[in-house]
Amino acid sequence: MPIRLLAIETSCDETAAAVIEDGRLLSSSLVSQLEHSKLGGIVPELASRQQLRAIVPVVEQALQQAGIAAGDLNGIGFTAGPGLIGSLMVGSSFAKAMALSLNLPLIAVHHLQAHVHALFLTEPRPGFPFLCLIVSGGHTQLVVVRDYLDMEVIGETRDDAAGEAFDKTARLLGLPYPGGPLMDQLAQSGDSEAFPFPEASVGGYDFSFSGLKTAVRYFIEQQVRQDPQFVQNHISDVCASVQRSIVRHLINKMEAAASDLQLSRLAIAGGVAANSLLRSELQRIAHRHNWQCFIPPLNLCTDNAAVIASVAYHKFLRGELAPLSVAPDARYRG
Ligand code: KG4
Ligand code: ZN
Repeated sequence: MPIRLLAIETSCDETAAAVIEDGRLLSSSLVSQLEHSKLGGIVPELASRQQLRAIVPVVEQALQQAGIAAGDLNGIGFTAGPGLIGSLMVGSSFAKAMALSLNLPLIAVHHLQAHVHALFLTEPRPGFPFLCLIVSGGHTQLVVVRDYLDMEVIGETRDDAAGEAFDKTARLLGLPYPGGPLMDQLAQSGDSEAFPFPEASVGGYDFSFSGLKTAVRYFIEQQVRQDPQFVQNHISDVCASVQRSIVRHLINKMEAAASDLQLSRLAIAGGVAANSLLRSELQRIAHRHNWQCFIPPLNLCTDNAAVIASVAYHKFLRGELAPLSVAPDARYRG
């Protein structure tokens, strides 16, 4: 008998569902909340209300695309955290209600472990062990991946996430949310050495981005006092310089960790993995050291349920099930 699981992701502002059969993806559906761009960021209260509206159609679509009925399922996986608690509660309550009514086991999934699973849904897959940088709007972590469910966090941000560093500096430049992709685009025609912003000095494999944000804010305020048109006239150079500073920090830590721990396979995941400079710099250091690098396609980097389904499948195989009393946790540790 095949193992068929439904997986649900609602950790932030995406509502997603996927069906996986014996580790092979049958469907993946998703609704994104685009209205946050008008508001300059994610409003948690609005995000959870949107999750409530989207959850039923998204799950129905995933089952329909997979060509299976709810009665054909063997289990339900859901994101237990970390994430926005209101959003997490929508997906977990839905998963629990479905598991109860169909008498199916539940599988609680760690959202960041799921981001790493983007690498197992793409060819070529990295062999174990490998070093993975998870960079999104909410998280920045460096992990050593020893197996599908065996991951050790060796570094993380002490303040803002890398995506937040892009979004917050973009906001200072008057760009709409999320600013990361726009900064990437504008940086293409800019000079990355025009304005040298300092790289944070933080110990070990940890990251810090709040100093950069403050440095950019003071820099812009000072320049605008002398030339009110400064931002309009130099936006590409500022974007290129900020992007260079963020990417250099990420790459330097990755390079140090891979060298120290003698890991020759490097990977990135999460929304910021779409950044063109991060991708090319990773390829550059990999080439220099004769390391292999792995970069999943963007639809698997940003939040989705396919990666939740992949973790759920491996946990199900190991019998790692959750009781019906399981509660989502904004700071879930697994
Ligand atoms: O993983 P994701 O879709 O959502 C979560 O935060 O979980 O990541 C979104 C983040 C945003 O901060 C966005 O600005 C950033 O990824 N991002 C980028 C690029 N594309 C998306 N940052 C820099 N360059 C990009 N090309
Ligand atoms: Zn995420």
